[in-house]
Amino acid sequence: MPVRTKATENFLRTFTTPPYVPMAYSLLIRNCGQLLTLAGSSTARPLTGSALTDWRSISGGYVACENDRIVAVGPMAELDETQVTAATMVLDAAGRVVLPGLVECHTHLVFGGNRAHEFQRKLKGEAYLDILASGGGILSTVQATRTASQEQLLANALHHLAGFQRYGITTLEAKSGYGLDAETELRLVEVAREAGRRQPVRVVPAFLGAHVPGPEYRGRPAEYLAMLVRDVLPYLNPQEVPFVDIFCEEGAFSVADSRQYLAQAQELGFGLKIHAEQLHDLGGCEMAAQLGAISIDHADYLAPAAAARIARQSQGRTVAVLLPLVPLFLRQDRYAPGRAFIEAGLPVALSTDFNPGSCPSKNLWLAVSVACLKMGLTPREAIAAVTINAAWAIGQQQECGSLEPGKRADILVLDVPALEEIPYWLGENPVQQVIIGGKLV
Ligand code: NIG
Ligand code: FE
Repeated sequence: MPVRTKATENFLRTFTTPPYVPMAYSLLIRNCGQLLTLAGSSTARPLTGSALTDWRSISGGYVACENDRIVAVGPMAELDETQVTAATMVLDAAGRVVLPGLVECHTHLVFGGNRAHEFQRKLKGEAYLDILASGGGILSTVQATRTASQEQLLANALHHLAGFQRYGITTLEAKSGYGLDAETELRLVEVAREAGRRQPVRVVPAFLGAHVPGPEYRGRPAEYLAMLVRDVLPYLNPQEVPFVDIFCEEGAFSVADSRQYLAQAQELGFGLKIHAEQLHDLGGCEMAAQLGAISIDHADYLAPAAAARIARQSQGRTVAVLLPLVPLFLRQDRYAPGRAFIEAGLPVALSTDFNPGSCPSKNLWLAVSVACLKMGLTPREAIAAVTINAAWAIGQQQECGSLEPGKRADILVLDVPALEEIPYWLGENPVQQVIIGGKLV
């Protein structure tokens, strides 16, 4: 066989079709004790029912990457050693659990100040909606956010993203919603986008200008929504800000106003999300699902019968995003009946809901544990809920959420030998190594 000279190689790189493909892995993670691929039987919709449990795990496996993509996943016995060269970075997982980077599908990342002072009021027994009605709660963060500089908001967001990254979050949805006027809301979306550009965690922005009516529109929620439709939505590009969200609740927006607003956002090309059935059963989840919402979030008061109707009507496409740290932090007894939702065929995802009021925690592993303890999820279901189903909840399922060839090389090595230990070590961060886009971070 003729030996290829450097010049021939260069020629092939430039002119051969299909393009020259280097035959070496850039990164190999070997000896994965349990390789949780999260690859399921269906790639057409989020995992539901038994599929939430039946996804593929491999004992004694490897993951191979070329640049930012996964190119091969399998048992060690099937590893193609010819593609492991001096240029390959080899990471020995030494029998530990390896899984996809976590997807955090619901956060309020960008805000000024904090609400530690209200924590005291809460501990004395004041309810979340009472604090809001007295001008505190979300509105107190709005004040702190409006007066913060762009630089300060960006610095805060970057600080929180660095914290999320340490917990192994590699993709994160970030909502606006603490500006509540046209100019500040647009600024918050820009901060989220800029934060995404400045560090490795992939940021997916969402617009939650409809968090509560802005203080200037007190008692006039419909007029406030009309202002958003007129003065903000036309200035957002759905390619850059794919989702519009609304808080449908007493003291926020009614089901009728939410329906009209979401329908208008849909006409403009946005995907839909809703905060609903957090504190009361108003019917917001079902309304949003009928409009084709990608996710319905909170759902603590969503009845299993309504969950079954949503599952049927959306053909398992609308994901219920469960937020178990919120009732914990709000001292609420009622948790979303996750077990019943799964039995009703509804796809579920889990998130922290990171925000200064109802969940100042970025610990998605703790959310996994509390979902097992209080919502009846099994550890395997809960892991699917923070990876592949969370990716579905923000339209990122082609890119992340499972370890499969073609997906972005977002991978975690955990410091535990078995999946069952993940929710067991309550409140710990099991992450030993985070890889984003094929790079150790
Ligand atoms: O998702 N429920 C509405 N919004 C946030 C909380 C916002 C806040 O209290 O600052 C949530 O829980
Ligand atoms: Fe939220």
